[in-house]
Amino acid sequence: MPQAMKILTVVGARPQFVKAALLSRALRAAGLRECLVHTGQHYDFHMSEVFFRELEIPAPEVNLEIGSGSHGEQTGRMLIALEPVVREQKPDMILVYGDTNSTLAGALTAAKMRIPLAHVEAGLRSFNRAMPEEHNRVLTDHCSDLLFCPTQTAVENLAREGITKGVHRTGDLMIDVLRKMAPVARANSTMLSSLGLQPGRFLLATVHRAENTDAPARLAGIMAALAELATAEPVVVPLHPRTRKLLAAQGGLPPQGGNLKILEPVGYLDMLMLEQSARLILTDSGGVQKEAYDFGVPCITLRDETEWVETVATGWNVLAGADFAGILTAARTPVSPPPRPPLFGTGHVAEAMASLLRQ
Ligand code: UD1
Ligand code: UDP
Repeated sequence: MPQAMKILTVVGARPQFVKAALLSRALRAAGLRECLVHTGQHYDFHMSEVFFRELEIPAPEVNLEIGSGSHGEQTGRMLIALEPVVREQKPDMILVYGDTNSTLAGALTAAKMRIPLAHVEAGLRSFNRAMPEEHNRVLTDHCSDLLFCPTQTAVENLAREGITKGVHRTGDLMIDVLRKMAPVARANSTMLSSLGLQPGRFLLATVHRAENTDAPARLAGIMAALAELATAEPVVVPLHPRTRKLLAAQGGLPPQGGNLKILEPVGYLDMLMLEQSARLILTDSGGVQKEAYDFGVPCITLRDETEWVETVATGWNVLAGADFAGILTAARTPVSPPPRPPLFGTGHVAEAMASLLRQ
């Protein structure tokens, strides 16, 4: 009897664990074999292991333990480490998610070793080539044989670059994970009581993008705006280790009053609880913008552009950049909730992808 098709999945960063949670299960349920490879790009307990535990993701078959480094060093070490794994595992296809250095390393490995490549979250563009992620996604899409697009905008972005073959609009995997796990978060998270928060009476903020953390004036503008907002109501900031390190290098964390609550990164369930209970979310994260939309919580994006343009078009997301005054104006402008058409999930995104992978 012929053996079932084998997929080698490459993950390495926090949002990729969230997305892999559903698809890994769907692949296995569809009778496909999967070898899950963790590059080790994220390695702290709260950046990696907590997602595997809470989302019951199968333990990776291989952990490359690459860790942190400059872009070239990190990506290069992943490439070197992936090659022998692929040679040994002999997958029929390599599967990558999103736009991180782990994504690019998986994509280049597939291209160099002439293995078909599938890309989840294909076609997203910020049109800002200063972002490392923009290079990662463009290069990955141009190496891919199967391109799973979350939105129609993503399909159109690919068409403009001449990519039409193998393109499927599947919906957004991350939103299906959210819908499955939001009730679990409500039943299990003790985040609100442990922080003394009331639903609808606090703000939630995350900051980790290189364009903000590596530009001292932008990071200072954002942190000053969060401190100012915290004079009126609690502001909860689960801080990415990158941001914590850069703030420390620039003279330390801002003064923390009772209302500015700077935390370690929180687990996925606690994050979903904070998101669905916040009055307003301020973020430079891609995933958090979408999650805010799905929960119907207004979002201020601390960037000058976004890949998730639909959230802005509907009026639920406002681009405020990193300027102190601009962020305060956006945060203090009352929003009367506009209509919220379904943009992302279908409830069956993982199954649709698994069936396309099987063909
Ligand atoms: C990466 C992705 C980004 C994604 C983000 C998700 C790239 C180029 N960027 O950014 O697109 O939005 O993941 O969170 O791939 N660190 C720790 N512990 C960890 C992980 C990182 O302390 O477990 C610190 C290290 O100092 C490291 C820094 O954070 O140098 C940045 O980590 P890295 O994985 O290189 O990039 P992210 O900023 O996490
Ligand atoms: N997240 C989390 N804990 C945190 C911050 C984020 O569980 O402290 C989750 C968030 O809910 C989303 C994913 O991590 O599912 C987004 O990751 P991140 O913002 O790091 O990356 P991006 O989406 O910008 O690539």
